[in-house]
Amino acid sequence: MFTANKDYQKLPGSYLFSTIAKKVAAYTEAHPEEKIIRLGIGDVTKPLAPSIIKALHDAVDEMGDASTFRGYAPDLGYDFLRNTIVEKAFKSRGCEVYADEVFVSDGAKSDSGNIQEIFGANDRIAVCDPVYPVYVDTNVMSGRCGDYDEKTGLWSNVIYMPCTAENGFSPELPGEVPDIIYLCFPNNPTGATITKTELQKFVDYANEHKSVIIYDAAYEAYISEEDVPHSIYECEGARTCAIEIRSFSKNAGFTGTRLGYTVVPKDLKDQDGVSLRNLWARRHGTKFNGAPYIIQRAGEAVFSEIGQKETMEQIVYYMNNAKCILDGLKSAGYSVTGGVNAPYIWLKTPDNMTSWEFFDFLLDKAHVVGTPGSGFGPSGEGYFRLTAFGSYENTVEAIERIKKM
Ligand code: MLT
Repeated sequence: MFTANKDYQKLPGSYLFSTIAKKVAAYTEAHPEEKIIRLGIGDVTKPLAPSIIKALHDAVDEMGDASTFRGYAPDLGYDFLRNTIVEKAFKSRGCEVYADEVFVSDGAKSDSGNIQEIFGANDRIAVCDPVYPVYVDTNVMSGRCGDYDEKTGLWSNVIYMPCTAENGFSPELPGEVPDIIYLCFPNNPTGATITKTELQKFVDYANEHKSVIIYDAAYEAYISEEDVPHSIYECEGARTCAIEIRSFSKNAGFTGTRLGYTVVPKDLKDQDGVSLRNLWARRHGTKFNGAPYIIQRAGEAVFSEIGQKETMEQIVYYMNNAKCILDGLKSAGYSVTGGVNAPYIWLKTPDNMTSWEFFDFLLDKAHVVGTPGSGFGPSGEGYFRLTAFGSYENTVEAIERIKKM
């Protein structure tokens, strides 16, 4: 008789954004007359830029012509995209990355969830708290996290690096030595950044302790300040200890189109000299048949001069929303951070409300959807995340409604 995976059964409740979607659907059904403004999940609202649409059309035409039709994509990605990524995303910033270290995928969510498969079953993870839920969830699914304590919201075998107002939402080096360290900067959910000096400390620590860093840089395009690294490979020694995950979702609006990539340097080896790059390639080969040609051409177009100009205009648009949220909430007396180098604003819930209490309160009183901070981990309790990815009009209206609550 079959049995259901015991590790999966340890996961409490449903995935954070599924829970929110269900709550909002129930509210909408009960209040069909209300206009709900969604600033919850970090989903873009601007349509794909014209240069990207053109690249998609051109690629579709190629697929309809017998002389240019393509079947299975190379499982690691087309060379035209991998070479472009190396030139435009890394070499331009002085980072040493090679095309055969770039693995094109259907997005950063899959990569950040799947990457743990190439590590030992007993490897211990360290995560920031709060944190993008995919990292812990997928390690729970693989049996690495121990048991869940409902009271504290902590997993017994996970090393937590709290990011709180006291430390400026910036993690300190882990108290116990982990095997795998997840970092995400600019951060989801807090919107905080890390300086190059601070990131270098993590790289040095990882090299010294033979840990690996999984660096999620999905929001790097939103960096506006100096001294905020766009890639972990700006740090010395990162090639021997770090994997970097990137996305086309937030910088170019591919949340529905799906495209991302992961860099695994050839210099990254485990204690027995096993190449993680080769294991990840092996995994891709077995489990993935490559991101679609059409979408990879669209990804290439993002890096063109016109693609960069058009997508930057979208980023500026979203960051103007972020400023509107930041300024609006501050003037209404809220304590807020983030929103300067990231499209997320992190606010302290008023009147000691829990994160979920504030979620219900906001939905009921202002018909605005946000994300409860506790959904990202216990240190997120008492906090709340709003995204800047809405339309400007809706963002302004949401803030006006919140001010009136
Ligand atoms: C978020 O809202 O945290 C993100 O949009 C989720 C994701 O990128 O998967």
